[in-house]
Amino acid sequence: MAFDIDMIKKVYANMTERVDAARGIVGKPLTLSEKILYSHLWDGKPNKAFTRGKDYVDFAPDRVACQDATAQMALLQFMQAGKPKVAVPTTVHCDHLIQAKDGAATDLKHANQTSSEVFNFLESVSNKYGIGFWKPGAGIIHQVVLENYAFPGGMMIGTDSHTVNAGGLGMVAIGVGGADAVDVMAGMAWELKFPKLIGVRLTGKLSGWTAPKDVILKVAQILTVKGGTGAIVEYFGPGATSMSCTGKGTICNMGAEIGATTSTFGYDDSMERYLRATDRADVADAANAIRPYLTADEEVYANPEQYFDQVIEINLSELGPLLNGPFTPDLSTEVGRDMTEKAKANDWPMQVEWGLIGSCTNSSYEDLSRASSIAQQALDKGLKMKSELGINPGSEQVRFTAERDGILGIFEKLDAKIFTNACGPCIGQWARYSDPKNAPKNSIVHSFNRNFAKRADGNPNTHAFVASPEITAAIAIAGRLDFNPLTDKLINENGEEVMFEEPTGWELPPKGFEVKENGYLAPVADGSGVVVSVDPDSERIQLLTPFEPIGNEINGAKLLIKAFGKCTTDHISMAGPWLRFRGHLDNISNNCLIGAVNAYGKKTNFVKNQLTGEFGGVPDTARAYKAAGIKTIVVGDHNYGEGSSREHAAMEPRHLGVAAVIVKSFARIHETNLKKQGMLGLTFDNEADYDLIQEDDTFNFTDLNEFAPDKQLHMEVVHADGSKDVIALNHTYNQAQIEWYNEGSALNLIKKENNA
Ligand code: F3S
Repeated sequence: MAFDIDMIKKVYANMTERVDAARGIVGKPLTLSEKILYSHLWDGKPNKAFTRGKDYVDFAPDRVACQDATAQMALLQFMQAGKPKVAVPTTVHCDHLIQAKDGAATDLKHANQTSSEVFNFLESVSNKYGIGFWKPGAGIIHQVVLENYAFPGGMMIGTDSHTVNAGGLGMVAIGVGGADAVDVMAGMAWELKFPKLIGVRLTGKLSGWTAPKDVILKVAQILTVKGGTGAIVEYFGPGATSMSCTGKGTICNMGAEIGATTSTFGYDDSMERYLRATDRADVADAANAIRPYLTADEEVYANPEQYFDQVIEINLSELGPLLNGPFTPDLSTEVGRDMTEKAKANDWPMQVEWGLIGSCTNSSYEDLSRASSIAQQALDKGLKMKSELGINPGSEQVRFTAERDGILGIFEKLDAKIFTNACGPCIGQWARYSDPKNAPKNSIVHSFNRNFAKRADGNPNTHAFVASPEITAAIAIAGRLDFNPLTDKLINENGEEVMFEEPTGWELPPKGFEVKENGYLAPVADGSGVVVSVDPDSERIQLLTPFEPIGNEINGAKLLIKAFGKCTTDHISMAGPWLRFRGHLDNISNNCLIGAVNAYGKKTNFVKNQLTGEFGGVPDTARAYKAAGIKTIVVGDHNYGEGSSREHAAMEPRHLGVAAVIVKSFARIHETNLKKQGMLGLTFDNEADYDLIQEDDTFNFTDLNEFAPDKQLHMEVVHADGSKDVIALNHTYNQAQIEWYNEGSALNLIKKENNA
């Protein structure tokens, strides 16, 4: 199943009818984003208008994609749903667990050895449940999705923030947590707050050294890392249609860096060319048949201020190449002289040690071909590399074609390392140093999306700057951060002054794409006989056991921790080295709440065990209470659980026996994740009651047997001196979510309904 044309035709048949209905209901012309959203409502044909930025709406995405790090827990949970197959087309992509070190052949072999049990697990689960599986080395999830599955007007979710890349092919594609993916795979609705809309009108045309990457670097400068929050960014205008489809993908990809829900472009000729070049003429034909539905109504782009919540205009003809960084993707500097001054003022190392080209953001054929035109000039003009160069092709199809066309050979002549078709340095999977924490201060330039401290190589002193692939190549050859290839000369091996000419390249391979082994494994038609075997001694994968319902009797519960101040999902379930245990709930639970500050003593991972009076780490203390059959509660401050949507932050406390999380306020996704795991997520009716909770208290829920929507619950707090307080607790559970609680988890309920 490369892609499902029948599914796409069905989406298009619905789209015409639903968009027409939505236009009538909304009462005005529609943006492309609205057309896609209204044609993917869970309830089918639209019957009411939604308020942007306010209404929570149930959607029915067309596809799901998961990468290997996040897929582990998502698939482990899906296995609990008792379904024979996924409800919507789903793919798994092995790209995050491959370290870049010596080059593709050695590195891939090493990854296949060190992570074989994870890869084997993902492969067998995929085979069993009808999920397409892309092997390690097949490519980076978002490039593979763009090449094979993305289609104009579609809606997809993926368990990775850069799922948004598929907006380059006119989708509404959104990054989610594993719990959301499980819902959709299991045939449930997916909820999203109806986004606000930001319109970006692109006029003029890119030329010379300016690339699509510079468009999003400019947008990041304008909107900053928070400016897109809760919004879909819709690009339009003559500048938009003049860019390649993969270039549009780059722009949408880095929408994640401005916090946008997603970004998208209307269907145009570049998308049609890309669909045909990637062997999807039937999708292009189907899209052509409903072309006006795959872009905004004409009036919208003529008067965008009337239809978008915010409009930005960028003239591509006036845009120059940018370098964004270090440490944040929205800090923009124009290539060249501006950088000389800024780098001096900020003490950024001027010498560039590495140039890295690739990642899901910039690893298309066009990207590699334009960067290689600069590399070829270096060879022709007798220039020697002043930095090291690394390349991560986006997919095996891109790699194979680029090798066939001599592109990779050009880089290799400059001694570049060709890493695996995988994330590599982009996600810190880069064996650059043996001791990254104590590595020296340095600068690198890359064409990736994120450049936070330690992201690429674990070295807090690495100053990473983001640029287009062609600028990355030029700066890596020159070895200086402030090199401006438009104006600056370099001295070659013969002592002559030489200059680069403008980069050239191909939007698509002139001889077409080619690949021998694309690394795709289709699932068997009937997976019922496929056995998913997991070594019981594995420290990385552990099959889940369904959670027992907590029940209506919570008496004598103890305080596990009263979190003080900010408590994000990172404080609840840390990343870093713990990523290794993402598929093993018991092992990863050893990081449960270890980053949260205890309100008593203001230390992290240091709480009182009331059974012994001793102090210890949060996970150990929780395990001691659980072993003694005592339920625990967690108390928190405002916006508890903000950050990522990772479901581990709810599953770990649940696994360790926490019955209720009681806070001043929740980050909404985390609150929902707690509900899905069959726990109580409650808020203080009176915020000041947070101060009533003492370290040695015992808790009794007095009216849980009357748990009902819109009805407060009450908890008796028994203090160490015997005095008592009764506090009122609010909740947002609807009846269906109360059923999740009663059954022990949302998945338990799905399984029960399946078996009914
Ligand atoms: Fe991978 Fe980096 Fe993209 S981690 S999915 S290449 S953002």
